[in-house]
Amino acid sequence: MSRITVVGGTGYAGSAIVAEAARRGHEVVSVSRSVPAEEARVEGVRYETGSLVDADVRARAVADAEVVVSSLSPRGELDGRIVEVDRELATLAEQHGARFVVVGGYSSLRLEEGGPRQAETGQIPPEYAGEALQMNEVLGELLASAESLDFTFVSPAMQFGAYAPGDALGRYRVGGEVAFTDEAGVSAVSGADFALAIVDELETPAHRREHISVAY
Ligand SMILES: NC(=O)c1ccc[n+]([C@@H]2O[C@H](COP(=O)([O-])OP(=O)(O)OC[C@H]3O[C@@H](n4cnc5c(N)ncnc54)[C@H](OP(=O)(O)O)[C@@H]3O)[C@@H](O)[C@H]2O)c1
Repeated sequence: MSRITVVGGTGYAGSAIVAEAARRGHEVVSVSRSVPAEEARVEGVRYETGSLVDADVRARAVADAEVVVSSLSPRGELDGRIVEVDRELATLAEQHGARFVVVGGYSSLRLEEGGPRQAETGQIPPEYAGEALQMNEVLGELLASAESLDFTFVSPAMQFGAYAPGDALGRYRVGGEVAFTDEAGVSAVSGADFALAIVDELETPAHRREHISVAY
């Protein structure tokens, strides 16, 4: 049993991770600005409120955690601030000896071995480009960080998100920084199966200081 704090634990990816971690008996804290409606809360999870833009909230989020999962998105208040917020969380995690796991974007993956990360190609539709570039910058900082920071950056499949929640199939595959597809050529993963992969990685760390991808 680990003490896991999920910042952004009420969002699309975060709420699936919170639910899976709590189901497996971990002590889970979610931090976000608002608390979900009672029927959407997961039993046993402590929902704390506050903005991660606030240094006190960040400090509180990391203080007791063995693992910090950042499942924030660079939208709204965090648009233009996610790099700084994740950087500060990483520093705190390192100071506390906590593991730091970031849920990033598909677009940080390379489409072929040795090729550029998709976010760096300039070929992302304008409505996604800002988010893609910001999460890619978070990844860049983590890859360049001191060895003492225990991080994993996880890119989900292309078809992933609140618009495509999918079904819990109880399976997934883990790849590296090159995107992969299923036998039908599709890159997809449901929220539940992505969460399965994250909690498996938390319980049995296999990808320290790596950029990995999760898809079917
Ligand atoms: N296919 C893909 O590549 C793909 C698709 C979807 C998402 N993603 C990535 O997955 C990650 C998570 O995205 P998501 O869609 O799950 O995000 P989301 O649903 O928008 O959730 C964001 C979470 O952060 C919280 N939050 C927002 N601003 C905050 C603040 N200032 N302080 C504290 N909490 C704050 C939100 O709750 P409150 O608003 O209550 O604070 C919510 O819990 C992102 O990196 C995103 O780029 C990738």
